[in-house]
Amino acid sequence: MSERILGIETSCDETAAAVVSDGREVLSSVIHSQIDEHAVYGGVVPELAGRSHLRELTGITDRALVEAGVGLEEIDAVAVTTRPGLIGSLLVGVSTAKGLAYGADLPLIGVHHIEAHVYAATMECSSPPYPCIALVVSGGHTALYRAESPLEHTLLAATLDDAAGEAFDKVAWLLGLPYPGGPSVSALAREGRADAIAFPRYRAPGGGGGFSFSGLKTSVLYHLRGGDALAPTPPPEGIDDRADVAASFEQAVVEALVSETLRAARREGLETILVAGGVACNHRLREEMKRQGEQDGRLVVFPSPSYCTDNAVMIAGLGSELLRAGRTCGWDLDASPR
Ligand code: KG4
Ligand code: ZN
Repeated sequence: MSERILGIETSCDETAAAVVSDGREVLSSVIHSQIDEHAVYGGVVPELAGRSHLRELTGITDRALVEAGVGLEEIDAVAVTTRPGLIGSLLVGVSTAKGLAYGADLPLIGVHHIEAHVYAATMECSSPPYPCIALVVSGGHTALYRAESPLEHTLLAATLDDAAGEAFDKVAWLLGLPYPGGPSVSALAREGRADAIAFPRYRAPGGGGGFSFSGLKTSVLYHLRGGDALAPTPPPEGIDDRADVAASFEQAVVEALVSETLRAARREGLETILVAGGVACNHRLREEMKRQGEQDGRLVVFPSPSYCTDNAVMIAGLGSELLRAGRTCGWDLDASPR
């Protein structure tokens, strides 16, 4: 029998709700982005994010049900992101999901945001891609997992400091480009040369794995300010190699992501590589991972761009798998930032 899940996502700056049938068929997907509210600050302001979710979530959830053409009585479970994310924002989603599930006497399911990003990358696959290597690259996370199934993930490596998306956002700010930085840096990078500036690449000591982007970000800062970190931003007049900076920075991030992912795939003996999260929209990452992965004899899977960034389809989808596995939650379900 087919089951319909209502998914709710409020972990960061997207208020989203979706109805998904059988973990794959998307009946509706509604997203309210808060980008305009945060852009003026150059990043997400947690307090504003929480308040905005509170204002929007009920309307967004209603719309998801209306667009799916179903009432709450035709839903089989309510799934909600519980972690990781901004705690105030998560709590809005969790409390709303609890209220809906309790009122309609439905099972409640807590979903891990990162595992849902990985699930999103599998939703358009014609057959299950497991086992595989999953690279999750978003504004808050950069990590490699070994995934055996939608519900089994082993962490292989993570960033020591900034997430890849966070590095894009901070470099955008240094370049005087709008938030979110990924799309704006990437657009400027198309006009520059990726080999113009030799920004550093992190190498883990002793041949270990992992990522680090804070040194790269600092190098961009020093480059733009002519070695004087306290000089004003945007860059001093007369020096405008910002397109080359954007392209060379993007190249450094992409090289780190691709080489670590391929190393992990070889080490783990896995043929399939999934890439998920907002940075998976990046066209250079998509091209390079596909090119080098295929050269190495591996299948590389990226979700459509709308499934890379935060959405509730991935929450409802993974919620379906959790429901089938009997992993429902009690009314004491809580949110957690980690
Ligand atoms: O997955 P996501 O929507 O939210 C989190 O869970 O963090 O990812 C948002 C991140 C932002 O840092 C944004 O700058 C980055 O994804 N991003 C990109 C691109 N589009 C979005 N980074 C690089 N290139 C892009 N085209
Ligand atoms: Zn995300």
